[in-house]
Amino acid sequence: MSLRIGDDAPNFTAQTTEGKIDFHQWLGDSWGIIYSHPADFTPVCTTELGRTAQLKEDFEKRGTKVIAVSTDNLESHHGWIKDIDATQNTKVEFPIIADTDKNVSSLYNMIHPNFSTTATVRSVYFINPAKKIQAIITYPASTGRNFTEILRVLDSLQLTAAYSVATPVDWEVGQDVIISTSVKEEDLDTKFPKGHREVKQYMRYTPQPN
Ligand code: BEZ
Repeated sequence: MSLRIGDDAPNFTAQTTEGKIDFHQWLGDSWGIIYSHPADFTPVCTTELGRTAQLKEDFEKRGTKVIAVSTDNLESHHGWIKDIDATQNTKVEFPIIADTDKNVSSLYNMIHPNFSTTATVRSVYFINPAKKIQAIITYPASTGRNFTEILRVLDSLQLTAAYSVATPVDWEVGQDVIISTSVKEEDLDTKFPKGHREVKQYMRYTPQPN
């Protein structure tokens, strides 16, 4: 059965470039991102891992731990990290899982057999501190992911978890957000002291509340 939004994020133990981990223990109270790579020493993956490393502080600012999955072994990962650091001008300081038995890839449905029976696709799972899956993005191996979008999704998830709002089309941090239809007219001023504007009864905007 494939994983869906709202499901529990499956737990596992795995060998990683930063030692053996129990995934849930490793996450602790943080938000988490687990994302897969088709293979080590491939160009698109190298740029993605490099960008993740470059965005270390951006993920930290959002209280989010990032972990990568690849079905190659630890020795390969350690060799690849040297290439990533050198070619992407960065320092990989997050774990890469050596998923040689494909346990994690299977748990998270990262292998799509009609695409490849051995290599993972590019999956991204966003996990909240309650260990529930909050968003899923899936790309084919030939399309590198957009990490500006990954941070944007994280910002939206964290904002909408804290306030009764949703983020509209193409929303970016700092822009107005949409008040949930469940918020009653009489509660608007207390819930949204920055004010609101009504375009339609079902479409009410407020400045970003946090
Ligand atoms: C890459 O990361 O460059 C890549 C990996 C597998 C298939 C296609 C591209």
